[in-house]
Amino acid sequence: MAARPIIIDCDPGLDDAVALLLAFASPEELDLLGITCVAGNVPLDRTERNARIIRALAWRDDVPVYAGCPRPMLRPLHAAERVHGKSGLDGYDWDEPSAPLADGHAVDFIVDTCLAADDRSITLCPIGPLTNVALAIVKEPGILPKIAEIAFMGGAATIPGNVTPAAEFNIHADPHAARIVLESGVKLTMFGLDVTHQAITTPDRMAAIRDIGGPISEAVTGMLTFYDRHDIERYGAPGGPLHDPCVIAYLLQPDLFGGKDCHVAVETESETTIGQTVADWWGVTGKDANCRVINRIDADGFYALIVERLKRL
Ligand code: RIB
Ligand code: CA
Repeated sequence: MAARPIIIDCDPGLDDAVALLLAFASPEELDLLGITCVAGNVPLDRTERNARIIRALAWRDDVPVYAGCPRPMLRPLHAAERVHGKSGLDGYDWDEPSAPLADGHAVDFIVDTCLAADDRSITLCPIGPLTNVALAIVKEPGILPKIAEIAFMGGAATIPGNVTPAAEFNIHADPHAARIVLESGVKLTMFGLDVTHQAITTPDRMAAIRDIGGPISEAVTGMLTFYDRHDIERYGAPGGPLHDPCVIAYLLQPDLFGGKDCHVAVETESETTIGQTVADWWGVTGKDANCRVINRIDADGFYALIVERLKRL
């Protein structure tokens, strides 16, 4: 079966880094056409640098990295350095990346790649704020029929938010971009906190990653150890949720996940609940479903996949 053509749009970010490594480790299943970077966890100059660092770690400088939007569409950027560190990739001592950014803007790369593709052939995998993806749709609506699916990490359908009581970080960062994506009519698969908070890097799972040995294992263990401290302190959990890799794992092994089709809207006005993803879980609005909300995961199978793939790098 031919490898699935994908674009990962990201804001590395420690969990983004593991998602990128999972994709790099799976060239038979995923044809990673390019990585587009957006401001999110940290400002754009760091997210694009961090994407290039992880690309070098995986020896995949063949995959182009593009810089995209340096801020959300309307709101100011509120970064998450408290979670990912000032660099956005704290927890390990990195060399500066040598391979440069690709020329051109991330939004133009998404547009040009989709326009050149067959209908319903490109899968977009946004795992940060949706600014780049939304602006690609606004700039060139002609890309919509070219997109097979947008599988994104963001939102919270039935549980509280992680950046406000109502909103998850990626959607809260750019709710207006999220609205454009949610109203696009494209096949959407949402990996919100409902499922990612079930993917906890417990000490046993961390040990399995550490026991792989070698530079990749050492780097991932360092990153996740730094990353987990925030959620252990906040939630009293045994580890941190591995949000972004859920999107890539779904592409590799969809039977690890389950969910429900429903209508999802996003709040863009209220200062109290801005960024909330409002999922009509019981169909009370009568609105057609526009999104598959993933809320189940085989967490042991998920981590086994991550370990198996990291061993390949
Ligand atoms: O809420 C979790 C999301 O916000 C993840 O994508 C993480 O990397 C941050 O971007
Ligand atoms: Ca992210």
